[in-house]
Amino acid sequence: MAFPEGFIRELKQRNDITDIISSYVTLRRRGRNLVGLCPFHGEKTPSFNIYTETESFYCFGCGAAGDVISFIMRIENLDYVEAVKYLAQRAGMSMPEDSYDDTMSRLRKRIYEANREAARFYYRSLYSREGSEGLDYLHGRALSDATIRHFGLGYADESWDSLCGHLKEKGFSNNELVSANLAVGRKDGKGVYDRFRSRVMFPIIDLRGNVIAFGGRIMTDEKPKYLNTSDTPVFKKSENLFSLNNAKNTGERTLILCEGYMDVIAVNQAGFQNAVATLGTALTGEQAMLMKRYADEVIICYDADEAGQKATARAIPLLRGAGLNVRVLTVPNGKDPDEFIKSKGADGAAAFRAIIEKSGNDVDYRLQKLRSGYDLSIPDSKVRFLEEAAKFIATLSSPIERDVYMSRICGEFSVDKNAFAGQVDRLLSRRRFEDSKKEFRRIRDDLSGANDKINTDRRAKPRSSSAEEALIAYLISNPDSSKYISERLSAEQFGNSLMKRYYLYLQERVSNGLDPLNNVSADLTRDETNRLYRIIADHSSVRMTREALDEYIEVITEESQKPDKAEISRMTADELRQSLERMKEKKQ
Ligand code: CTP
Ligand code: MN
Repeated sequence: MAFPEGFIRELKQRNDITDIISSYVTLRRRGRNLVGLCPFHGEKTPSFNIYTETESFYCFGCGAAGDVISFIMRIENLDYVEAVKYLAQRAGMSMPEDSYDDTMSRLRKRIYEANREAARFYYRSLYSREGSEGLDYLHGRALSDATIRHFGLGYADESWDSLCGHLKEKGFSNNELVSANLAVGRKDGKGVYDRFRSRVMFPIIDLRGNVIAFGGRIMTDEKPKYLNTSDTPVFKKSENLFSLNNAKNTGERTLILCEGYMDVIAVNQAGFQNAVATLGTALTGEQAMLMKRYADEVIICYDADEAGQKATARAIPLLRGAGLNVRVLTVPNGKDPDEFIKSKGADGAAAFRAIIEKSGNDVDYRLQKLRSGYDLSIPDSKVRFLEEAAKFIATLSSPIERDVYMSRICGEFSVDKNAFAGQVDRLLSRRRFEDSKKEFRRIRDDLSGANDKINTDRRAKPRSSSAEEALIAYLISNPDSSKYISERLSAEQFGNSLMKRYYLYLQERVSNGLDPLNNVSADLTRDETNRLYRIIADHSSVRMTREALDEYIEVITEESQKPDKAEISRMTADELRQSLERMKEKKQ
């Protein structure tokens, strides 16, 4: 069962989409609508639009779209019922009783509760007699009791069922424990066992203070070194960062990005609360966008080994793409930040502060790396270095930035700036040409639907798909045409299965007197919602006349009478001839 339509209507009226979104995005007015930089993907020119008339948003860059509820679900990482509760609370509305299905948000709530109880259990266990091995390990890694408490670190003992036993006593079911990934179902189907054993435990806490997952480190050289919670209904590792809950409160707009849990904790103990880490995967675009919400600058502080340097090179464009300034810190002597701080003993904090202050911006870092690969005393290799440097500078998008580094390099290596700038210009125009070719191919594939995973029928049936999309857009802005359309067209005539689903959904609502889009965030998946709003946006400047509608209906009817490929291959020669005759007659 869903929420009453009237409740959702009122919820949306009392949570104006522009008000809500403007607390996350800086908006500018453009005609009747508003635009800003999309909070869901990195961009430098605004393609995120709010349509006040339809109370919706749509991003031309990444396709994110929906109503105010979809927006909150996505930006606050909530499910549908949670987002509705969040907005109801904000507007001071009480929730309707028992009228909605909240199975999923109840499960999510139970997972949060189980995780919190597990974190308490692990923490207590660390300070119990059985936990001494864990506590010795953490003390051995130079963590103080205050730090252990601050991060809520804990210990999972060696038994197969101590956590499960405890949580079952607290009333949690096997299903809840397995859904939280705290337990694993036995192969024989008889019960469950603890997922984490003989490990020190690092709880992962989200921005609202919920324990959403754990990382567990083995205390020996066994593998895997770290075991992490898999994705669950409350946790997606590609969208969260370790310790962002601490880092977001420092009031600085700078974050230190580390590779591991222990690095973040050691850096915290050295006095920097603004450290975060990814959760056992390479940095993602979502994580970069998440950082951008709390910071303007990120200092990458990865391990000095080859893997760490490769990860640095991959992270730079992602962070820049999200609009962040980037600095890169190089830890001396091939150490990771945790080892470095520990090796300095009591001077750890001061030593770390010193290397933070020395960290250069990402361009310096890249040029320095490049330079170290050439013997600059040999003219030949100096030329090759300069060529590579020109290639790199041509990748910078800001003309001022390019100029600053060109001047610096030319001064330092006594090369003629005009010659060097000429080289960079040639590379730039070549790159712009490549980019526009790429953009052209992207638009072409987009139009043909070549890579479309949602609207899969579009490629095979472009003509009927276009007409059906236009008809959907027409029906949404002219719900009173519903009867006119249904008298002339049946859903069975739709060639595109996605449009057919939209059509059935919208007709059902409209014929019941409901606003066509009031409930999309509950009734459609995220992809379906995005695509539906894209169709609306694509047709927003198309004139919606009855003549146009008649034409869409005609095209859909005509296309529906064409036999499809499978039918053709089954036809006899005679049947094929007859069918062609029929089509010719209709054309005349
Ligand atoms: N990691 C993981 N699974 C592994 C190894 C690593 O999830 N099997 C993740 C963890 O988040 C870890 C990070 O990758 O914190 C960095 O790994 P690594 O550099 O190997 O470990 P350290 O952080 O140096 O860990 P430690 O100091 O405890 O050895
Ligand atoms: Mn380490």
